[in-house]
Amino acid sequence: MKILLIGGTVFLGRALVDEALRRGHEVTLFNRGQAGPTPSGAEAVQGDREDEAALRALARGRTWDCVIDTCGFEPRTVRRSVRALAGHVETYAFVSSFHAYADWPAQGVDESFPRHACASDASPDDVPYNALKAGCERAVEEGSPGRALIVNPGIIVGPGENVGRLPWWLETIARGGRVLAPGSPDRAIQLIDARDIAVFTLDRLAEGGTGRYLTTGVRESTTMGELLRACVDATGAETELVWADERFLQDHGVAPWTEVPLWVPESPEAVGAWAASSVKALAAGLRCRPIAETVADTWRALGDGGHPRPKYLQGKTPVGLDRDKHDAVLAAWDDRGSRA
Ligand SMILES: NC(=O)c1ccc[n+]([C@@H]2O[C@H](COP(=O)([O-])OP(=O)(O)OC[C@H]3O[C@@H](n4cnc5c(N)ncnc54)[C@H](OP(=O)(O)O)[C@@H]3O)[C@@H](O)[C@H]2O)c1
Repeated sequence: MKILLIGGTVFLGRALVDEALRRGHEVTLFNRGQAGPTPSGAEAVQGDREDEAALRALARGRTWDCVIDTCGFEPRTVRRSVRALAGHVETYAFVSSFHAYADWPAQGVDESFPRHACASDASPDDVPYNALKAGCERAVEEGSPGRALIVNPGIIVGPGENVGRLPWWLETIARGGRVLAPGSPDRAIQLIDARDIAVFTLDRLAEGGTGRYLTTGVRESTTMGELLRACVDATGAETELVWADERFLQDHGVAPWTEVPLWVPESPEAVGAWAASSVKALAAGLRCRPIAETVADTWRALGDGGHPRPKYLQGKTPVGLDRDKHDAVLAAWDDRGSRA
């Protein structure tokens, strides 16, 4: 296949490029040349997707079997890309998110659930990320009727992860000693490796597939305990996981999700957080590798020296609990019996 990727130099985009090149596809990347190097074997065209003229110049006199748009966050921007590439690509594949579904995380959503209401020309000034992703999907569907492939990933992990969730856990656990872990080790979680999304997306495109697919880990297939034990195994650290009550952590000011990545406290409002359905994607061929493999490969990719923070996250609040705060909350947890 001849594939155009908007993005393609970091994490999921990079996994898509690596897999496409491995399969012998002809790959063109369109990005600003800021986030990372172009993998060897791919053609690089520099430009800003906000600039419709740059996209039109890229497309002039050329065609591709598909475009994979990995970095669409604003419906207006995506609409411009769809318009500029009309007649030049057969299928428009868009990487959205399970956040696009209005009932996530309150319910275990599937593809039939309603998406957030968001017009295909909404502005990020008044609409949050979740709804914007739904608006981006509409921009693609309206501009490429019958030729749109929408992929709705759950939380993505794997080598090169640029948000820092699994990297934070690995680096924290690698320090050794006692590490706070949230809630119960038996809590089911649902993650997907970027490389599994890449394989699935390229398989669908090779078959001329369209429509929408929730792509996340198999429900109930992994627990928080398995994830963190896999981190202990991968790093080889002498680490004891100290499972602390969720209420206690929150009462001590620990923020789920941001300070303790991948922690969603159990609550009636979030019963669907880790229960999105990937049944349709699994029936169409999605295969999810074991979490231990993802964790080990992510650790290897980090190397001993850590990993550079991606440009777009620089200056933003880092993911993960500050070490001093971690130690203070752990001490309070150890002390709770003596205060009772
Ligand atoms: N992480 C998760 O858990 C998660 C979960 C669900 C869905 N998702 C979705 O998965 C996708 C992640 O994609 P990703 O890992 O490839 O990272 P990304 O941050 O979405 O994309 C980064 C790539 O896009 C390029 N890019 C950014 N702005 C550009 C612009 N204005 N013009 C041209 N190129 C531009 C960057 O290169 P330059 O900066 O050099 O231009 C880089 O190659 C996102 O769409 C996200 O919403 C993520």
